[in-house]
Amino acid sequence: MAEQPSSAARVDLTGQVCVVTGGTRGIGATLALAAAKSGATVCVLGRDEERLETFVAAATRQVGKHIAGRVADVADPQRVSATFADIAETWGPVDALVNNAGISKVGSSLNYDLADFARILDVNVTGLFACSQAAARQMAGNGGGSIVNIASISSFIGQPERAAYVASKSAVLGLTRALAVEWGTLGIRVNAIAPGYIRTDLTAELIGRRVLSEDAIAGRTPLRRFGETSDLAGALLFLLSSSSAFMTGHVLTVDGGWLANGYFK
Ligand code: NAI
Repeated sequence: MAEQPSSAARVDLTGQVCVVTGGTRGIGATLALAAAKSGATVCVLGRDEERLETFVAAATRQVGKHIAGRVADVADPQRVSATFADIAETWGPVDALVNNAGISKVGSSLNYDLADFARILDVNVTGLFACSQAAARQMAGNGGGSIVNIASISSFIGQPERAAYVASKSAVLGLTRALAVEWGTLGIRVNAIAPGYIRTDLTAELIGRRVLSEDAIAGRTPLRRFGETSDLAGALLFLLSSSSAFMTGHVLTVDGGWLANGYFK
């Protein structure tokens, strides 16, 4: 039993309009499906039209109700603003935002391309802020809402050859707190989930290139396994639901105990 991925508790999100960025695969796709299965009207944002259409069709079949998609690069502020306006016009103001879109590139900091560094910050930080701003403008006029940022264990620790990613995910935590403090009086809660190593295309690519070792990661993780995307659904549904109504500026780590572990042998 202990080796099974988590199963999310039942939460009722009926009537909520929920946007998930980068929602066509990996963690975002699982979180979008979890929100939809809990009753939310879900719209995922993705960059690639074809991938978006394929995801929307498959997800709609799986959940048994329409899951929407819109093409938007979160690092394009005009597009973000127009997309959120379109969403509000179609379904009403956004109640929930999951800032999931994120990128990484591993490489020596001595030779790291500054354009890559800037792009990672653009997507992971400025893009997250732009989406939060667009959503919060709607939430503010509608009694509030819940924003959940996907941070990382890299928000807390250093990792070699990931300076841009670590900087960006540390900033995600800072933004979570700053926006929670600023928008609390508007009824907007801003929290974060910090996943440990989760099996997705992003980590599969690193395992394939032997940048990461699944066995070594499982061996250092107190719960002795790699995470699955479904392990994050419970934390998301909790943070979107009224069960967490008095929580804001908080980060939930979902990492099998990785951050708690200071021991090795
Ligand atoms: P992934 O690479 O499988 O999925 C990321 C999604 O974001 C993709 O659909 C991609 O197209 C989309 N995306 C990237 N840039 C975008 C942009 N500019 N605009 C719109 N969409 C964009 O990655 P994964 O693993 O599912 O990661 C999702 C989030 O979770 C990221 O923020 C990542 O940093 C974070 N995370 C992942 C962990 C893992 O072990 N997989 C661990 C900790 C955090």
